[in-house]
Amino acid sequence: MAALRRIVFYLLGQVALREASSAIIPPPTGKYNVSRKKVEIPYVNTGDPIAPNNVTTAFLATVYYPTSEAFTGPPVPYLDPALAALFEGAYNVTPGSFANLTTDAIVWDAPLLGGIAYPTLLFGPAGIGPPVEMFSILLSDLASYGYTVIGADHPYEQPFIRWPNGTALYGLPPFDSPDIDAGALIDIRVNETKALIDNFPLIEQCVGGHINRTHIGTFGHSAGGAAAVRALLRDERVGSAVNIDGPFVDEDQYTDAVKPVLLLSEKIYEDSSWVHFGPVQTGWWKHLAVNGSLHVDFTDLTFWKEVTDVKAHSSSLGDINGYRQVNITRTFVRDFFDFTLRGVPEPIFDGPSDAWPELVYITMENGTMSK
Ligand SMILES: *[C@@H]1O[C@H](CO)[C@@H](O)[C@H](O)[C@H]1NC(C)=O
Ligand SMILES: *[C@@H]1O[C@H](CO)[C@@H](O)[C@H](O)[C@H]1NC(C)=O
Ligand SMILES: *[C@@H]1O[C@H](CO)[C@@H](O)[C@H](O)[C@H]1NC(C)=O
Ligand SMILES: *[C@@H]1O[C@H](CO)[C@@H](O)[C@H](O)[C@H]1NC(C)=O
Ligand SMILES: *[C@@H]1O[C@H](CO)[C@@H](O)[C@H](O)[C@H]1NC(C)=O
Ligand SMILES: *[C@@H]1O[C@H](CO)[C@@H](O)[C@H](O)[C@H]1NC(C)=O
Ligand SMILES: *[C@@H]1O[C@H](CO)[C@@H](O)[C@H](O)[C@H]1NC(C)=O
Ligand SMILES: *[C@@H]1O[C@H](CO)[C@@H](O)[C@H](O)[C@H]1NC(C)=O
Ligand SMILES: *[C@@H]1O[C@H](CO)[C@@H](O)[C@H](O)[C@H]1NC(C)=O
Repeated sequence: MAALRRIVFYLLGQVALREASSAIIPPPTGKYNVSRKKVEIPYVNTGDPIAPNNVTTAFLATVYYPTSEAFTGPPVPYLDPALAALFEGAYNVTPGSFANLTTDAIVWDAPLLGGIAYPTLLFGPAGIGPPVEMFSILLSDLASYGYTVIGADHPYEQPFIRWPNGTALYGLPPFDSPDIDAGALIDIRVNETKALIDNFPLIEQCVGGHINRTHIGTFGHSAGGAAAVRALLRDERVGSAVNIDGPFVDEDQYTDAVKPVLLLSEKIYEDSSWVHFGPVQTGWWKHLAVNGSLHVDFTDLTFWKEVTDVKAHSSSLGDINGYRQVNITRTFVRDFFDFTLRGVPEPIFDGPSDAWPELVYITMENGTMSK
């Protein structure tokens, strides 16, 4: 009897899951199976403006990479339950809305597939969140094409991280805007990017495979985007960068990166810090805006808005269809790195096309943006 009841409840559970929350995040579109793994990167900073007593001794890397192991079994939640609950509270949506989102493609802790010879991409999430985990839709897709992608979460700054040993760490509350100099925040991110590269041997040991040291790109969203370009400016090991909707800080906006830079923004980007950047570049650069999108559409939330009621609770999610936005962000970021790090010609950057009507190709003239 007890066994029967368990079976009935199990079946009811399956039905409820399908009806209330069958939402599986868009699977990666490339040919490789994808795994992810967390690695704690040792890095001592005694001048951290956010950490208690201003000291951090490590930060969290989450590596997304190709593997030979396929996902098996029913879909599993893709977010840490505590992270999901924290953001459900922050957005004031029905509890379970985000915790119920699942993946049927990304496995944990499988070995890195060898013999691919793809570049390494380093990712920085938005300041004070969302953290790396909430960019899984983009990062897993890049991994499925062969890239090893390493996202870095700065502890205390990110609202929530869980270390590889299982210990949870709550940081600043989501949407908090502490009185911290943006330049200092970006500098910490850049220093951690350097530490990440220095620690490739440790990461290789953890994922059981080789990481490309000669072809490295950086990208990030919001503060992570500004930091991606500053890392390109400051570290000769970085070959190209994508800034997704991140205001530049300090002198970066007037600096010639020499190396290739893609600026990818929400609909018509009005941030004055982007106006000066293009005209001083001697290397390849492009500014593409996505019509219909807003700042948060470059995170996993653009998909969440299609399967939960989060859009009603956010002023930073636009009218663009979330599945379409996922396709756009995945494609333009991947094609940029295919082009700049692998030498694959990408006519997608030449100008508007029928295939990508939402993309606005922006040029700067005399400090004024125009299409
Ligand atoms: C931590 O850093 C902040 C910002 O730099 C500073 O205002 C504060 O005094 C520091 N706190 C400690 C305990 O050192
Ligand atoms: C994905 O995983 C399955 C099962 O292990 C395997 O048969 C397949 O070859 C893998 N795909 C690739 C491209 O490695
Ligand atoms: C989450 O899933 C559970 C069962 O799997 C379901 O009962 C619940 O209604 C779902 N919640 C939301 C907000 O979708
Ligand atoms: C690094 O990436 C480049 C470009 O894809 C490739 O030519 C090179 O062989 C890779 N190096 C290694 C050691 O994988
Ligand atoms: C887990 O790792 C974190 C980061 O190094 C550390 O602060 C914490 O004390 C560790 N937890 C346990 C139970 O060892
Ligand atoms: C970044 O690293 C440099 C060189 O080690 C150091 O001088 C600087 O204080 C660091 N900046 C921050 C914000 O940690
Ligand atoms: C943006 O999309 C709207 C609605 O589809 C359209 O009317 C408008 O012309 C587009 N704007 C640009 C700059 O492409
Ligand atoms: C992404 O968009 C392109 C161009 O519109 C289209 O050809 C392709 O089928 C789309 N891919 C997916 C997975 O929707
Ligand atoms: C930019 O400046 C040049 C030289 O002063 C002028 O000829 C041109 O019309 C200006 N372009 C715009 C878009 O204002």
